[in-house]
Amino acid sequence: MSQDLTDRLPAGQETLDPEEVLRRLKAAAAEETAWESGLVFNTLCCRPHPLALRAFTQFADRNLLKEQSFAGRRMEQEVVAAYSTWFGAPPQQGRNGYVCSGGTEGNFVALWAAKAKHPGRRKVVLAKYAHYSYDRFAGPLELQLVPVPLRNGLEVDTGSFLDTIDGETLSVIITAGDPVLGRLDPVEDIVAAARRHDCAVHIDAAYGGYFLPFVPEYRERFGAILSPANNATTLTIDPHKYGLCPLGTGIVLFSGKEDLDRISLSVPFPPIESRTFQGSRSAGPAAAAWAMLQLLGTDGYRRLAEDVLAKCNHLATRLAAFPELEIVGRPRMTSVGFHVKAGEEQTIALYNKLSARGFLITPQTKPTFFLRAIVHHHTMLAHIEHLIEAIHDAM
Ligand SMILES: Cc1ncc(COP(=O)(O)O)c(C=O)c1O
Repeated sequence: MSQDLTDRLPAGQETLDPEEVLRRLKAAAAEETAWESGLVFNTLCCRPHPLALRAFTQFADRNLLKEQSFAGRRMEQEVVAAYSTWFGAPPQQGRNGYVCSGGTEGNFVALWAAKAKHPGRRKVVLAKYAHYSYDRFAGPLELQLVPVPLRNGLEVDTGSFLDTIDGETLSVIITAGDPVLGRLDPVEDIVAAARRHDCAVHIDAAYGGYFLPFVPEYRERFGAILSPANNATTLTIDPHKYGLCPLGTGIVLFSGKEDLDRISLSVPFPPIESRTFQGSRSAGPAAAAWAMLQLLGTDGYRRLAEDVLAKCNHLATRLAAFPELEIVGRPRMTSVGFHVKAGEEQTIALYNKLSARGFLITPQTKPTFFLRAIVHHHTMLAHIEHLIEAIHDAM
């Protein structure tokens, strides 16, 4: 048995053999569908890069509470500075954002800061397809969510969105990659309307963050979104989705540090200015994001984005070649929705057959019953062919 597993076991007490615990862990892991199986088509989160995992583990026991991990905080600031440039935020010595636990926390922090600026306002305007995290914290933050309906059940209705923004609006949420199909809100129009009413603009790029700065069509609209000219207030991006980092790695960025300062709390012990939602925070996520940035650089992330988008187009083309199938909407990022033209019953039957073969694919119920397959960095062309073969057999 390796020595470290017996570390600090209570003396004189019978404990389970650590090797037995390892065996039980292995058995538990075997219940999960492995990334390598090629069957995982249902998650925006990723199989982390081994280097990111190594960095994550190496700094897992360091605390990012101020002054408790200098190296961790430096890495965090470097990550925030680099990501800020992807979206045109002015350089502000690392105080314009932080590494958080994921998209939900990032979205929460953004609206918490908006509330601190306009305590009297409650109204939040967002597309109907926005992520459910807003519903999650609408209660504690006392928000009034006003979801904008969709045209044909699919695309956000720009006119309704703009008409809903008014002087009572606390914040608009611009979804840049909705969780189901990667749809994007009409950013320019919404930003202009929000400016007229002096409300916060939060960009939810938890999904789309690794595509917006790199795909020319999106870069034009989002590459300077946090700059003073565009004036979006905050942006969420998730390294644990398309950034190859382990789960628990998110980032929230601010265009101006005064918005982040508004949620600052002076704490007597330890003597810190706390601006984060979490108290003690592991430096693991910041180290992972930093390590991947060192390894890949912006250009590496751009190439990864191009590769995964090409794989998604390939899947969409292969699916569209089935006369029995119809693609739902237009694949924008890495998700493809499809259903059997013959009807819902047949789509459910296809879903059941694919599930029986172990494929993890998400069924969606709106606007019709359809299946959504997500392509990721861990998806190989052979995995796509395997899925196509399975669909072929199921028809
Ligand atoms: C657009 C969007 N926002 C927020 C989230 C929430 O992210 P997390 O699950 O990391 O909290 C997701 C997750 O899929 C998302 O797609």
